[in-house]
Amino acid sequence: MPKKTTVSIIKCDVGSLAGHHTVPKPLLDIGEKRLKEAQKSRLINSHYVFHAGDDLELLMVHNKGENNPKIHELAWNIFQEAAKKAADLKLYGAGQDLLRTAFSGNVRGMGPGVAEMEIEERGSDPMVVFAADKTEPGAFNYPMFKIFGDPTNTAGLVIDPGMMEGFKFEVLDVMENKKVVLKCPEEMYELIALIGTPGRYVVSHVWRARDNLICAATSTTRLSLIAGKYVGKDDPVSIVRAQHGLPALGEIIVPFMHTYFVEGWMRGSHWGPLMPVGLKDSRCTVFDGPPRIVALGFQVSHGKIASDDDDNPLISDLFDDPAFDLARREAVEYAAALRRMGEFEPARLSAETMEYTTLPKVLEKLKGKFVKAES
Ligand code: F6R
Ligand code: MG
Ligand code: MG
Repeated sequence: MPKKTTVSIIKCDVGSLAGHHTVPKPLLDIGEKRLKEAQKSRLINSHYVFHAGDDLELLMVHNKGENNPKIHELAWNIFQEAAKKAADLKLYGAGQDLLRTAFSGNVRGMGPGVAEMEIEERGSDPMVVFAADKTEPGAFNYPMFKIFGDPTNTAGLVIDPGMMEGFKFEVLDVMENKKVVLKCPEEMYELIALIGTPGRYVVSHVWRARDNLICAATSTTRLSLIAGKYVGKDDPVSIVRAQHGLPALGEIIVPFMHTYFVEGWMRGSHWGPLMPVGLKDSRCTVFDGPPRIVALGFQVSHGKIASDDDDNPLISDLFDDPAFDLARREAVEYAAALRRMGEFEPARLSAETMEYTTLPKVLEKLKGKFVKAES
């Protein structure tokens, strides 16, 4: 059996500088220090620490497989330590996403978000990791469909015989905790019927139909469902594999050439335009947003992220590119249009979705004031 390689991205909001907008350096330093040690002790082979808005993101490449308790514990301990540092500095929302106190073998269901993919490395294995802030896992539904299901986005679906059999999408119903696999192109309409409701149905994995090659994995946490109350949105992460019989890197990022609307933004309660940004702009500012997404391109190589001679991972900050200026301008314009509407739908999320925010507490107070109206 060839040795397998696992890519894990585990993220958590452990506290932020000046509200909920960015992760300051002392917290990133904790991640870097601890992952460097883990690399030295050979628990992991490679790492990259970054942030998407107020979420600390740990990208790790190793040979331990998915859901490995040691890898998850490593991330959990880093988040605990960073949350403690955040609390010492009185940063905002220290430990926000750490919903459980005792670690029990896996960070899933404990607050942090996880996307993992175990692969047999191909001759060359290009990958993209996406991380978004102020939105939720269903935010990836639209680009996942575009990338793997839409021939007007992905030329390879039309031109590359290696892709003609299409792709299989695993869709998770996060409300009922059920899943279904639908294949494109045959079940494209049914797929869209489901994932057009991103707050409930989330694309969690994608495989190439002809050989079941894993192509994409997305985090699917719903913090409010774990905690039973509003605790912030579940800012999502995703891993997508590229090229050679899979969508090309350019086909994976072209859906972000235009902005599109996602749920989240201020207080997790508004529709907002998703803005692709480079790491330098990965800070949510206006109205706690607009929701932002970063994309990192890298090569998985001999169980690691391909690195330079000093073992620094070679990472390409894909949205740090004028080609995404149009999407950024659109995002700002649409953000301004939505904000003009204040707290009126559709700027604010539907009443059903607001059930998972703090609004019901406000409405509760009015209950006793209602009297029967004449018909
Ligand atoms: C959204 C988010 C922020 C906060 C907002 C209010 O995911 O984290 O928009 O909801 O800044 O935060 P609190 O209630 O902590 O003052
Ligand atoms: Mg926060
Ligand atoms: Mg966040």
